[in-house]
Amino acid sequence: MDKSILITGGAGFIGSHTVRQFVTRYPGYRIVNLDKLTYAGNLENLTDIEDAPNYHFVRGDIYDAAFLKELFEQYRFDGVIHLAAESHVDRSISDPNEFIKTNVMGTANLLNVARSHWEGNFEGKLFYHISTDEVYGSLEEGGYFTEDTPYDPRSPYSASKASSDHLVRAYYNTYQLPMVISNCSNNYGPNQFPEKLIPLFINNIKNNRALPVYGKGENVRDWLYVEDHAQAIDLIYHQGRIGHTYNIGGDNEWRNIDLIRKLCEIMDRKLGRKQGESAQLISFVKDRAGHDLRYAIDCSKLKDELGWRQQVTFSQGLEKTVDWYLENQEWLNHVLTGEYEEYYRRQYVER
Ligand code: NAD
Ligand code: TYD
Repeated sequence: MDKSILITGGAGFIGSHTVRQFVTRYPGYRIVNLDKLTYAGNLENLTDIEDAPNYHFVRGDIYDAAFLKELFEQYRFDGVIHLAAESHVDRSISDPNEFIKTNVMGTANLLNVARSHWEGNFEGKLFYHISTDEVYGSLEEGGYFTEDTPYDPRSPYSASKASSDHLVRAYYNTYQLPMVISNCSNNYGPNQFPEKLIPLFINNIKNNRALPVYGKGENVRDWLYVEDHAQAIDLIYHQGRIGHTYNIGGDNEWRNIDLIRKLCEIMDRKLGRKQGESAQLISFVKDRAGHDLRYAIDCSKLKDELGWRQQVTFSQGLEKTVDWYLENQEWLNHVLTGEYEEYYRRQYVER
């Protein structure tokens, strides 16, 4: 094997697209997907590649330092691509502790094990930490987040991600642990758990359920198709400069209410409803506590230095996403009923 790479959180939304990107593009790499399989982790995201000879799945918790040590000894990783996290802002507001355990302590555990395993020979090693634009805080109408924007996290989720970013940089500065960080804007696409805006609303529209728009729907997010993110991760893993941060974004800002109306139009067309029908489900509800107004990413460093470009336009991406959810009702049913635990047992425990 050319390289042995640990991808954490590979059964989740972005993680599964990243695992697929690496497993299919680099048959010479051994890719180990470590995932705890929380409610957000689903091995059914990876059925197409689960039998690939260079792919291995291990169920485990990054909070468990002793387990991580054994895993590193067994697989002798050259690289870590760290995506495992609690990722939903609303859950972080109702229960912050799990975010601190996984996002902060879990990252610290991974850094410690990578450092002690690689100590004395950092050549060819890389700790790649996947983070979010939410660490930069909230913008008003103008301006963009750059790699130099001071951190100003405002939710328990973003504070936990900011803490982990700081730890990764501290390990580089203090111990020279080779690392790179990327901070990405909102992702959308197939396999996203239907608690986040786009998949939740697709599912609700389909089932004629109310669409709960927080506040006035004026908050702005910058949306990126998930496969474009996975390609950026591939590029940064291989060509990013050690010790650097890269912002990743869609150059694609939408006010929530405008995005939701666009989604309703697409759904009307796909479901054969008359135009305007799905939009009647829109229901303005109490705002999220501490709701960040606007995120917008300047990703010119990634474009100029590494030549990355978004490949999928928002119209294309939304069509693909809606089609995927409409064609994968079974996936949704399993996720919503927790039946994928059953799948795990069939696939990995009982065979
Ligand atoms: P997700 O919630 O879909 O998946 C997270 C995965 O991590 C799940 O498979 C879960 O089982 C696993 N996990 C959780 N706790 C774990 C633990 N203690 N040990 C091992 N595995 C654990 O998240 P996502 O949306 O795919 O996000 C992945 C990463 O990308 C996160 O670090 C997130 O902060 C970051 N990110 C997400 C977005 C976005 O829009 N979704 C944008 C920018 C950055
Ligand atoms: P979300 O998908 O949770 O991502 P994030 O909060 O990390 O940006 O939410 C995207 C936007 O949609 C955010 O401004 C909150 C809003 N939103 C709603 O209005 N209603 C909802 O039910 C959800 C889940 C989100």
